Amino acid sequence: MLSPATAGWARLPPLAAYGTMHYLEFRGKAQMDLTLLSLPVAAKRIGMLNRWISLPIIAVTISILAPVSMAMSTKSHGGKVDATKNVPAATLVLVALRTEYKENPLGIDIRKPRLSWQIQSDRRGILQAAYQIQVARKEFDLRAGGAQQWDSGKVNSEESTQRVYAGPLLQSGQRYYWRVRVWDDRGEASPWSDPAFWEMGLLESSDWQASWIEPDLQEDVSRSQPAPLLRGTFKVNGAVQQARAYVTSHGLYQMHLNGQRVGDQVFTPGWTSYNKRLQYQTYDITNLLRSGENVLGVMLGDGWYRGNIGFGGQRNFYGEHLALLMQIQIKYADGHQQLIGSNQSWKAATGPVLMSEIYHGETYDARLEKNGWMSPNYEDKDWSGVKVVNHRKDNLIAPAGPPVRKIEELRPVKIIKTPAGETVIDMGQNMVGWVRIKAQGDSGNTITLHHAEVLDKEGNFYTANLRGAKQTVRYTLKGGGLETFEPHFTFQGFRYLAVEGYPGELTLDSVTGVVIHSDMSRAGQFETSNPLINQLQHNILWGQKGNFLDVPTDCPQRDERLGWTGDAQAFARTAAFNMDVAGFYTKWLKDVAADQLESGSVPYVIPDVLSRESKPAGGAAGWADAAVIIPWTMYLTYGDKRVLEEQYDSMSKWVEYMRRRAGDDYIWDGDYHFGDWLAFATTRPDYPGATTSKDLIATAFYAHSTDLMRRIALVLRKENDAAHYADLLGKIKTAFRREFVTERGRVGEDTQTAYTLALEFDLLPAELQKIAADRLARDVKERGHLTTGFLGTPYLCHVLGRYGHLAEAYLLLNREKYPSWLYPVKQGATTIWERWDGQKPDGSFQDQGMNSFNHYAYGAIGDWIYQVVAGIDVDPQAPGYQHIIIQPQPGGGLTRARASHNSLYGKVTSAWEIKDDRFELTVEIPANTRASVRLPGAALDKVTEGGEALAKGAGIANARQEGDSVIAEIGSGRYVFAYPRKAQQQ
Ligand code: BGC
Repeated sequence: MLSPATAGWARLPPLAAYGTMHYLEFRGKAQMDLTLLSLPVAAKRIGMLNRWISLPIIAVTISILAPVSMAMSTKSHGGKVDATKNVPAATLVLVALRTEYKENPLGIDIRKPRLSWQIQSDRRGILQAAYQIQVARKEFDLRAGGAQQWDSGKVNSEESTQRVYAGPLLQSGQRYYWRVRVWDDRGEASPWSDPAFWEMGLLESSDWQASWIEPDLQEDVSRSQPAPLLRGTFKVNGAVQQARAYVTSHGLYQMHLNGQRVGDQVFTPGWTSYNKRLQYQTYDITNLLRSGENVLGVMLGDGWYRGNIGFGGQRNFYGEHLALLMQIQIKYADGHQQLIGSNQSWKAATGPVLMSEIYHGETYDARLEKNGWMSPNYEDKDWSGVKVVNHRKDNLIAPAGPPVRKIEELRPVKIIKTPAGETVIDMGQNMVGWVRIKAQGDSGNTITLHHAEVLDKEGNFYTANLRGAKQTVRYTLKGGGLETFEPHFTFQGFRYLAVEGYPGELTLDSVTGVVIHSDMSRAGQFETSNPLINQLQHNILWGQKGNFLDVPTDCPQRDERLGWTGDAQAFARTAAFNMDVAGFYTKWLKDVAADQLESGSVPYVIPDVLSRESKPAGGAAGWADAAVIIPWTMYLTYGDKRVLEEQYDSMSKWVEYMRRRAGDDYIWDGDYHFGDWLAFATTRPDYPGATTSKDLIATAFYAHSTDLMRRIALVLRKENDAAHYADLLGKIKTAFRREFVTERGRVGEDTQTAYTLALEFDLLPAELQKIAADRLARDVKERGHLTTGFLGTPYLCHVLGRYGHLAEAYLLLNREKYPSWLYPVKQGATTIWERWDGQKPDGSFQDQGMNSFNHYAYGAIGDWIYQVVAGIDVDPQAPGYQHIIIQPQPGGGLTRARASHNSLYGKVTSAWEIKDDRFELTVEIPANTRASVRLPGAALDKVTEGGEALAKGAGIANARQEGDSVIAEIGSGRYVFAYPRKAQQQ
């Protein structure tokens, strides 16, 4: 049995250990299906699978080859399992073809893209046995099966995700169509999938023929400037077959072609470590072109590039001047091509956006709009010119993550007159984005919109917690009709909107909330019988929506909105349950590596806008470890080995940095750390609060990242490195025990975080683990609440549950008073708060300097809710949900919980309900995966599946009793398990 602590992410160790073992047994069963095949095919398949053959299986294999049908029987504790029962002929359909996690992406720059697909079938227990991928430059050729760019041939492999393209070199701007077919474990072939495609971006800097241009305007770069307009024209002669625009900028851009917005992305080109990595976007503009004169109109905004970002009013972090790089490639029907680029001929002016800032809002004077500037015959004689500048092009990259878009719209719920006399609109939800406002009034009339997250205890508009961020949008009407306005280069974190200067009557119809975030598809759903927990999940999800804006930020409202590494790592696993974050983190991790300091230290925030050459801002325990923890999380949740390979250098540099800082005694002390940030504090003289020493925390995370490196090195088959990290880990553990653990199992300052980290990171000797866990549980029970901060909280319930203290974990989850997750819910929160007591029961606020109401870090409980309450987990031995662990652990008075997660293979569901003392668990497992299901409090002979004895269910193998639980190994399909609950479960 795996020791609880070494199981790490596998949470419930016994099952994790069985995961690998019964994986083999399950394979044994797959072999039995071979009787359906012809002998030669079967023989081949057995050859392919022979790495799975272990002794007990060999016997079965031989029997398969015998002429007598063995009735597909296999042994299990439950008796005979008939794998063919109720099995209709399978129809295999391939869907959800993805290239680098994206559906038909345009403009990628991965030279060996990875392909994934999902298999749908009505048969249980479907496994892929082989696949074939074909790639062609033309869809027609692909369908006709000719002129292949690449044909993988039939590859005997069960892998249906992360398949690497291995054909000839891919070319810039070229589209590649691909399709796939598979053979299942019975040798049945699927039809070819519908074709999907990917299209390459510009792969070499020499592909960029266009010039960087800067508007030649008089500017005072010491403060925010009017947004420049850039205008360029070109001619189209002939029938266009296809056209692409490749665009990027210093600062933000919005581009129009012939008056039509190009694409639907906002905040382009996104935020990266601009000096090293600058994203460009690829747009299909075929349908926006017209014959003859065409006009490009681009507006630039200060954005992260030169607007106020970071502390102390800092500006111009990346440079003082905005610039544009734009290239259009047109292919005509007759085969000739045309290339248009930003160049010297462009014109520049300023327009109606007088100021735009990430933190401060936008000021727009509609009277200054330049009518017709995006049309051909516009007179631009009085416009300024542009400067051609020699900015780098070798840092240009295609986005790995999803673009930021307007994702949804919210209707406001009420209009309030506050005691202070403000007119305030309540959006009903703390949201991130802006409002679209409609108004009709006199020219020159200015509407001012202030944004706030909360009202104070008197019910007045409260902005003190925004610190320096003004979050103010001003719109001056041009007059003469109904006007509609949305800001361009700013976003606000808010629920309440104070409106000044609105002409006429302000109604709920006057404004619409526009929610923006990185366009990640929704992957997870969660619901229980407790509406407060459901609201908590809602708040976690909205915390994610609000803080995934190309970069994982701490908060979206005050003068911060930075990629704080600690917050990111704490929330990453939860994020990966809720949404498809694979591309999003892939992109950000490259910025982590890019901004990592020579020393190996990882900055506090990524992109790093806080370090100065003389004073690097980085190297904090639990923050910088994001460099290791997040790639590992990506590996667990998407089976992504490439991210481990590509981040390996960065990760190992970080561990090496810690090794140097800690020195020969392996205790990392002395450096600056944030510690267990915002942990429970009191003013009680006998209990000052729960401060865990920073030395303990730093040494614990040093061990944890070293341990993850050890595992990562093993995954990548770097055995020497793995041995090195194992050795280092041993030394850190010994030092940790010597320094922080007493013989009686007291850890550090006896705080919840000290025990939690020591147990989660497996730092205690086996004989002290239970003692320490009991001490932790006692503390929780005695206080009745948690005392942890950013670093302890994500692991607290996991540790309690894993060591037999599930009741205490549920006690924490269910608690409704401060400090707890449900306290903010009871206070009406619609997002996760930065602090346990952001707003106190009497309505007063925490310190205004540090009091965000949309900070996802404490939302990390979501991961426990999915993994333990609902019971969906991954197996590190077969990650990415290839082997799924289903192990719900009901408790806390809940009568039902239902979660689902869209993995790369398809939908995983675990839904349980307690009805009349019966426990019913519905499980859905996608094709080409398998799962180990643990049924808590069950007796093997009492469990039914689909109304029949468990042993009779198709797709179920090796059902067995293990202590209080029944374990069943299952293949893909939908299963409904039911049984009377054992007394101790109730
Ligand atoms: C941020 C945090 C961050 C912290 C570092 C704060 O200002 O909002 O979430 O991790 O600084 O301790």
